[in-house]
Amino acid sequence: MNSSNTGAPEAAQAATLEAFDRRAAEQYLRGQWIAEEHLMRAIGGPRPAGIPYRWEWKSVEVALDEATIALGPVDTARRHLTFVNPGLMDRGSATTHTISAGFQLVKPGEVCWSHRHTMSAVRFVTKGHPDAFTAVDGERLPMEDFDLLITPRFSWHDHHNSGDADVVWLDGLDIGLLQSLGAVFYEPYGDDSQNVRPSSSEGIGTRSHWLRPTWERGRESRLPIRYPWKEVNARLDVYDLDAGTPYDGLALRYANPVTGGPTMATMDCWVQRLAPGFDGKSHRRSSSAITYVISGSGTMVTEDETITFNRGDVISLPNWTNFRWTNDSEIEPVLLFSMHDIPALEAFGLLYEEPEAILNATPAPINPTPSLNPIYRPGAFYDQDEL
Ligand SMILES: [Fe+2]
Repeated sequence: MNSSNTGAPEAAQAATLEAFDRRAAEQYLRGQWIAEEHLMRAIGGPRPAGIPYRWEWKSVEVALDEATIALGPVDTARRHLTFVNPGLMDRGSATTHTISAGFQLVKPGEVCWSHRHTMSAVRFVTKGHPDAFTAVDGERLPMEDFDLLITPRFSWHDHHNSGDADVVWLDGLDIGLLQSLGAVFYEPYGDDSQNVRPSSSEGIGTRSHWLRPTWERGRESRLPIRYPWKEVNARLDVYDLDAGTPYDGLALRYANPVTGGPTMATMDCWVQRLAPGFDGKSHRRSSSAITYVISGSGTMVTEDETITFNRGDVISLPNWTNFRWTNDSEIEPVLLFSMHDIPALEAFGLLYEEPEAILNATPAPINPTPSLNPIYRPGAFYDQDEL
């Protein structure tokens, strides 16, 4: 070998490093230089986890019918089809990287036995019945069309369909988030049904009144709550048709009636109205979302594609993905229900959005350009956002 070859020292160095990396790996050690690529990819923000995707109700409805036949009569809580994001197939049942959503169908006379888990759950009823209900920590929450019921973390819950027709709802659970935190606990109740109190005095009005149950103090963030659609729909009518923002139209948050805070500690729910002809501006957030189309039709336009939607469809929106809404109709408004991992990000000061802080989120960090040196220049990041 010619020792005067200018590439020889570099090649020898590379071989030495490669040999060291192998020896280190045998001791379960890894040099930071190997992971550097991942850090460099985060310049300008995170890569979205998963892809924007729409599940069409017409197809899902057929699949639910087929699942009913394939499963036969069930006495469990398992007739549920989860929306698996095509970009997150390696993460199990993930609709976004933090939330798993799907439809559950309960036949007349069925009871989905009682249990609890640390995952918080959202139930948005898409086909309800006055005689169907979910029991949550001893409270009976009726399930009528488009009601929202919440099962906060580690609440006992069982579902009952005492009516004469199928009941269907959209489930949403913060599974991906809790898995990544290593905080999944599960416990069967040991019986089909929990004891349910005859009183309904702990309703939403009582809880938001200035005279509140003393026995609920300290557990405000995990109360069983039903948000009746009749009241939600009436509330939408309080606002003018053109009220809202140029990004989301009229977006109202299902607040915790006691604290005024998020729907639950890890998830926020919204009801949204896009006025006829709405042509929204593009934006993105560090949060992810799953949206159900209550009524109307339109599009969600991302950088790469245009997703059309109709009544009953479900759409996943990954984190840090530019998108905008449109309403195709010049007559009918679009009504949307959605769940977001916003509170989880907010808790750590990591809710960013572009281009404007319409959620009062922190403006996204701006990377120093064109030079990255010196990386740790005082104020290189913080004078752009939190301060
Ligand atoms: Fe459950």
